[in-house]
Amino acid sequence: MFAAIPLMTSQQRRTTAIYPGSFDPLTNGHLDLIARGSRLFSHLIVAVLTNTHKQALFSVDERLEMMRDVFSPFENVEVDSFDGLLVDFAEKRKANAILRGIRAISDYETELQMAHLNRRLRPATETVFLLANEQYAFVSSRMIKEVIMLGGDVGQFVPEPVLRALRSKFTS
Ligand code: PNS
Repeated sequence: MFAAIPLMTSQQRRTTAIYPGSFDPLTNGHLDLIARGSRLFSHLIVAVLTNTHKQALFSVDERLEMMRDVFSPFENVEVDSFDGLLVDFAEKRKANAILRGIRAISDYETELQMAHLNRRLRPATETVFLLANEQYAFVSSRMIKEVIMLGGDVGQFVPEPVLRALRSKFTS
């Protein structure tokens, strides 16, 4: 009955997950998901996509630096970047899971498509979804950029190093 799904040894069952995204910038919603993911997986790699078509506010290096600062208390969380296909990066990093968050039903359709596509491309990688904490269900990097550009305070939505970086971009 389970012939298509090979059994795993306890060593193989140690799960390395990738949490991929643009993180332009990292928000408290991302941070909440990463903190929860770090309790579920042996090793969590937060991976910034470099070859995005989106116009970025922060360079990849700036994002990596802020994220390393924020995640330093988490001993099993690593920050990395990737280009090309996510499943190829998963293969390279020997990851058996992809972690994604769902805030609302509007996220679901895109996430469903990505998860199905990624499974076709690399069946060994499972996509695992966590529901975003309801406290952050409305927080997105795009909205944060819009609010700060228009002079609003985003201190409650982003970690401290991100807030400092945003303020230095917009108050010079
Ligand atoms: O933070 P985002 O922008 O929602 O993250 C999207 C991301 C990086 C997860 C997605 O665009 C991605 O995985 N891109 C890599 C290219 C790829 O593998 N595409 C095929 C599967 S969608």
